[in-house]
Amino acid sequence: MKYFLDSAKLDEIEEAYATFGVDGVTTNPRHIQASGKPFMAAIEDMAKWAANKNLADYRTFPISVEVNPHLENADEMVREARKIAAISKNFVIKIPCIEPGIAASRILEREGIRTNLTLVFSPSQAIAAGRNKTLFVSPFLGWKEANGEDAKPFIQSIADIYRVQKYQTEIICAAVRTGKQIADCAAAGAQIITAGLAVYKDSFKHPYTRNGLELFRSAWDRT
Ligand code: E4P
Repeated sequence: MKYFLDSAKLDEIEEAYATFGVDGVTTNPRHIQASGKPFMAAIEDMAKWAANKNLADYRTFPISVEVNPHLENADEMVREARKIAAISKNFVIKIPCIEPGIAASRILEREGIRTNLTLVFSPSQAIAAGRNKTLFVSPFLGWKEANGEDAKPFIQSIADIYRVQKYQTEIICAAVRTGKQIADCAAAGAQIITAGLAVYKDSFKHPYTRNGLELFRSAWDRT
């Protein structure tokens, strides 16, 4: 299962790449805002970062960039997606999983512009992505659990449907918040998770590991 970083901050991308070997980046308008840069500067800087690492395109290091969330019309989404896609071969265009977004993603995929249908909260939305042969689909696990829903059967259901239907779209488990969710996604057979840097850092911490290290240090010092 691949790890993507959910961030538009270059220092975080650099650290996550060096430490955890992340395989790609996902962004949304909140991440762009958190980068402190205007939209174009933020996405161009990420494209330059990838080019400097010789990560040539979306196959080697996909960077998901979301269209203007105010767009409610497929033609407008397509126009904006073409502009973003022309900036870098790393860019995969993130489109909300609403009716015009479904239409836009189908047009774009036929043109060879890869898309990531986002804000997915039901298996039937995920089926629409699979049928459209989008590169990615992004079910949001953390948001569901924040609202008292269990994300495990949700992601298992999408993974099962994709297997049975032989959809090629890769599942990005998005808004992953905990190590347990990471394990649930892996067990369900999701291809990718995306999470913030702090989630990856926390995911391998265990108090027994720390306690064990203290015990071994004490033994080492007394030997
Ligand atoms: C994923 O592609 C989304 O950008 C992300 O996971 C959304 O959730 P968050 O910003 O609340 O983490």
